[in-house]
Amino acid sequence: MADNGHNQAPSTLSVIVPTYQEVDSLGPLLERLAPLWESGLLLELLIVDDDSQDGTEAMIADLDLPWVRLIIRRANRGLSAAVLQGLAEARGEVLVVMDADLSHPPEVIPDFVVALDSGADFVVGSRYVPGGSTEDGWGVLRWVNSKVATGIARPFTAVRDPMSGFLGIRAERLRAAADLDPVGYKIGLELIVKCRCQNVVEVPIHFSTRQLGQSKLSLRVQLQYLVHIIRLARWKFPGWSSFVPFAAVGLSGVVVYTALLWALSVYASDVMGENWLIIVAIVLTMMWNFVFDRWLAFWYARHQAIWRQLLGFLAVCAVPVLVNFFVTQWLLDDQIVTPVAGVVGALVGSVVGLVFNWLVARALVFGRPAT
Ligand code: GDD
Ligand code: MN
Repeated sequence: MADNGHNQAPSTLSVIVPTYQEVDSLGPLLERLAPLWESGLLLELLIVDDDSQDGTEAMIADLDLPWVRLIIRRANRGLSAAVLQGLAEARGEVLVVMDADLSHPPEVIPDFVVALDSGADFVVGSRYVPGGSTEDGWGVLRWVNSKVATGIARPFTAVRDPMSGFLGIRAERLRAAADLDPVGYKIGLELIVKCRCQNVVEVPIHFSTRQLGQSKLSLRVQLQYLVHIIRLARWKFPGWSSFVPFAAVGLSGVVVYTALLWALSVYASDVMGENWLIIVAIVLTMMWNFVFDRWLAFWYARHQAIWRQLLGFLAVCAVPVLVNFFVTQWLLDDQIVTPVAGVVGALVGSVVGLVFNWLVARALVFGRPAT
């Protein structure tokens, strides 16, 4: 049995395997997990199946193994949700998640337990540490894809293979985590970030290409990853996740304002004086900013009353807008052509207003995100 360095019995272990149409892989998987059960390490295997209707149910029932539990899910399907349900129902002190398709070698699981028993917060089976490898036959595209996805995760963790679906965590640490809310596949990254895992141990693995069944990694799953990253960013860096979109919307406002001013001066100069052109352009631009800021920069306040927010937003904007207005007018007085005046005025207004607007809107109009 694995030595945990403390001369104590290793923690009890639950292995969670999410499955969707993996009936062909389950036999070989059970064969390779059986020695762990026979050694006394493995308490239970939870197969969390999203109602595959491929004979999985009958097969597990026929085998009737005392250490294997099958959970069939019919609602709220999806890999992350399945993994979370398995983790929630597991009874072991140490919880390990792995794929069914034998990409992940069950033989290293005792090393996971040793690492967690010796103080690791989290363990991943890693392709990208010395000793780890990926079976040949990954197309260039899948390789690039994996590298890009790993790069995007970099601000959240220094782990070399945060995309790995082969992971281990102590049950107590998992239960202490607040608001787990993953979409798509990257439950490991979610847990590392939300459980605030510092000491992550990467156990090198050889990642085998699946022999049976089909991969479920679709374009949809890849897009979900981006949504997941945005959620994690908002959770971990709420200030920057608000300010960066706010600045981008502000920049778009400059373009919108300039275009409006130009269009109005061409098409509406008969019905309005110059000052009115500017005022109308400013108000329309503020509406534009309000809509996008509320959506992208102050996402957490989207469910609060919109009218109060709109009035507050307009009031806050009024300060830099007045600066904008007078600068523009002053430039017009200097006989500078309208579009140029618009650009310069909007730029000055935006720069002055950006940080001011964001700070005040955040503090007074949209509230702060709960962290
Ligand atoms: N319950 C359930 N529901 N299981 C699912 C679902 C689902 O909607 N989708 C996939 N699975 C199961 C599969 O049956 C398999 O056991 C495991 O999740 C991984 O699915 P694969 O289709 O084999 O994924 P992959 O090979 O593309 O991705 C693997 O590599 C990634 C890193 O490159 C997995 O290990 C990922 O977890 C890993 O992130
Ligand atoms: Mn796979």
